[in-house]
Amino acid sequence: MFFSATTPVMSKKLYIKTWGCQMNVYDSNRIADVLAPLGYKQVDAPDNADMIILNTCHIREKATEKMFSELGRLRAHKLAGENKGKKVIMGVAGCVAQAEGDMIYKRASYVDLVFGPQTYHTLAEMVADLTGLKKKRVVNTDFPEISKFDTLTHEHTNVGPSAFLSVQEGCDKFCTFCVVPYTRGAEYSRPVHQIITEAKKLTQGGAREITLLGQNVNAYHGEDDNGQASNLAKLMYQLCEAVPEIERLRYTTSHPREMNDDLINAHRDLEQLTPYLHLPVQSGSNRILKAMNRKHERDMYFDIIDKLREARPDIALSGDFIVGFPGESEQDFEDTMDLVRRVNYSSAYSFKYSPRPGTPASVMQNMVRPDVASKRLDILQDLLNTQQHEFNKNTEGMIVPVLFDRKSSKANSLMGRTPHNQSILVEDIDTDLYGTTQQIKITYGSPHSVVGELITPASKKVA
Ligand code: 5AD
Ligand code: SF4
Repeated sequence: MFFSATTPVMSKKLYIKTWGCQMNVYDSNRIADVLAPLGYKQVDAPDNADMIILNTCHIREKATEKMFSELGRLRAHKLAGENKGKKVIMGVAGCVAQAEGDMIYKRASYVDLVFGPQTYHTLAEMVADLTGLKKKRVVNTDFPEISKFDTLTHEHTNVGPSAFLSVQEGCDKFCTFCVVPYTRGAEYSRPVHQIITEAKKLTQGGAREITLLGQNVNAYHGEDDNGQASNLAKLMYQLCEAVPEIERLRYTTSHPREMNDDLINAHRDLEQLTPYLHLPVQSGSNRILKAMNRKHERDMYFDIIDKLREARPDIALSGDFIVGFPGESEQDFEDTMDLVRRVNYSSAYSFKYSPRPGTPASVMQNMVRPDVASKRLDILQDLLNTQQHEFNKNTEGMIVPVLFDRKSSKANSLMGRTPHNQSILVEDIDTDLYGTTQQIKITYGSPHSVVGELITPASKKVA
């Protein structure tokens, strides 16, 4: 069917459920952008939806299993719609879609649409094939020659005060436990001009903080206007100059191998760059790092941390850890604990190793017994939680700029993030300050977040 410019587009409800990393959150927003011209408006609940999309994560087995059970639950909404004579499209997107492809139909025959992370810019065609009854089901798990970023528009339908912007995607590092190089494909960096255009659109939509995203974001090497390969530090300087509305920049996720001096110096010199870095190390044991094919040793990680702390003494560090990797001995685990003690993290994510089909580690011998891995995870998480709580307590009394990017369920309250990426709640505040940055005094550090109060009395709500 063709729509002329004057044909009214019927409003349809689109429900998207997102799992996994920030890149999936970004992708879900872009999926909504692509579907908006077809009349789909995003809603918060699946009731009466015309399209239900699950944007999925394949990183650990648990994430994949959760997706299949949610799919089963959401099926009821498809059936309810169809009982009323309405076509309800159910789609699976993201990394499970990429990894499983049409195998998804074997477990969930009622799914209509399966599309991988590199194909969502062609959703209009996929939907037309389904609604025009040209195809009963559509599967698209290609890695197209031309990047989706070249055809996606820069228009965003949903922009908050803090926005994500994908600058790099995919990974060529091939850590032996990880599915990302297979589900997201080879490393790709967007050209600088495209990123600047998108950042301008985001700030015009109200964004004041931008988090640059990439599976290996610090390996960014997109082309600049002179046809030369840029790097992440240069990109961030250019962005801040071209888009002065950006108050704060963050980037995630980084690989230790790519923490070059330009980037470390940017932490010293670039005012908008927040004093926070998520730098996964996975293990503190050289033996395990080698088996993981991390391409760095623990000393290299310590060197980077030292340089970062020299450049930006108040930098808060976060990381990712895997315990129970095949062959991990008590001593290897002790080395991880030792690394954590030496680095002292402000927050961190830690996981039990999960064998993923098709990855080299999944066929390694000497698996760690699940009960041993669980025990190690508990011990590691205890230490990481203690460090996070200590960090939060040590910030009590500090006055920091907070961008209010979330409304709270409590009345007269707002939430945001401190420059150190702590989640902060401020009560007794005018909620019109949502989307603005205010000076806040941290009054209380709890285990996973902090509480603060507005120190600009003029803008404080009078009861
Ligand atoms: N098992 C457990 N954790 C994993 N991660 C990636 N692959 C696996 C796996 N197979 C973790 C790593 C990575 C984070 C995103 O997920 O710590 O940094
Ligand atoms: Fe996965 Fe390693 Fe690439 Fe990170 S660097 S995405 S852990 S393969």
